[in-house]
Amino acid sequence: MSLNDFVGTVLKYGFTSLAAAAGLYAVLLGLLTTATFQSHVVYLHAIQMTWFRDLDVPETFGFLKNQVTPFVIKAADDQHLYAWHVLPIELYRKHELALAAEQTGFVPDITSRLAFKLLRDDPETRLVIHMHGAGGTVASGHRVPNYRALSAGHPGRIHVLTFDYRGFGRSKGKPSEVGLIEDALAVTEWAMDVVGIPASRIVIFGQSMGTAAAVAVSHHFASQSPPTVFAGTVLVAPFVNVPTLVSTYRVAGTLPILSPLRRFPALFGYLLRFIRDQWLTNERITQMVRMNEVNEEKYRLTIIHAEDDWDIPSHHSELLFWHAVNGSIPVGITYEDLEYKKAESQVNLGAAGTIMEWRTDYGVIREEILKSGLHDVVMGYPVVTMAVMRHFEAADPSFTIEP
Ligand SMILES: *[C@@H]1O[C@H](CO)[C@@H](O)[C@H](O)[C@H]1NC(C)=O
Repeated sequence: MSLNDFVGTVLKYGFTSLAAAAGLYAVLLGLLTTATFQSHVVYLHAIQMTWFRDLDVPETFGFLKNQVTPFVIKAADDQHLYAWHVLPIELYRKHELALAAEQTGFVPDITSRLAFKLLRDDPETRLVIHMHGAGGTVASGHRVPNYRALSAGHPGRIHVLTFDYRGFGRSKGKPSEVGLIEDALAVTEWAMDVVGIPASRIVIFGQSMGTAAAVAVSHHFASQSPPTVFAGTVLVAPFVNVPTLVSTYRVAGTLPILSPLRRFPALFGYLLRFIRDQWLTNERITQMVRMNEVNEEKYRLTIIHAEDDWDIPSHHSELLFWHAVNGSIPVGITYEDLEYKKAESQVNLGAAGTIMEWRTDYGVIREEILKSGLHDVVMGYPVVTMAVMRHFEAADPSFTIEP
């Protein structure tokens, strides 16, 4: 029976609104199997949220004059990625007059700017490479307070580099898993090769969809020979992979898309096969940890999630934590056995949530489940500042604020 027949039949029996809902749902499911629609649902890149405001004028998003340098990083196949270099506040204060005297707006050659020289020429510079979530641009939502939180631990030294993946904001192209990973790698390589910041002074940060890119980048560099390992990887509100996500995802926290179909496993499994970009973070995180253990490389990973996250349930973080820990044990560990370990050694901070740390000879894998913080407000929270500082300090114990 075709969709039309189906809708017609139901209509005949007078279930008008039910049929309309069922029809719409069927159309939605049909659309979901197409690549273009899927990419719009997964990446939400058409939803900019910074309409009518010029990204080249970061001052309109609450920054000081020339605190942000808008520029472009060139990636593979002539891909131009729109990026922001965000100066930390204390460094800005020290150079306020000189910075404010420079021209504002988009900067064709970032190497000519004082902000860039401050980033490049200080051997103690630290950098957080920021990978934002689905939808929007470098300037949308809670990303601006996020940048402040990232550098707040050492506002004289911690710079933030953030960018729009292909298809987002001013970066042209169409998003895809392969493409986004290429973009994230290109930005990271730019930081290491062009600016010259070693991996031990870089933290990779991702939120939501950006966590998948962040893990892919950390995984990629860990698998090189010789391996490159960053000071740390910080994931806020991550997800296990896209198939698991769509089976729990609720639009705006209320409207489930696929979860009603879980009662029909055959249909559900059939639909999941159409997912083009799977973003298997669970597999990448296990492999990354395993490689670092085998290579005897020091590594640090922090996973942060709020219990009241209505977009991605915090259970995703518990699963990812398990996959990461599993990679650190040659014979593996079951989820239940890890739960027993948690019951023994998890730290309960009351209203601030819980912390579980898994330490090996080489690495620390940390899970922080907050009681509150929603999906994105948490990005501006002090736990983010603490995670960044913990990673930088572990990579270099001398990294603290001078008295
Ligand atoms: C955990 O690790 C073990 C040993 O490497 C492996 O056999 C198992 O498949 C892993 N479990 C998961 C869920 O990845």
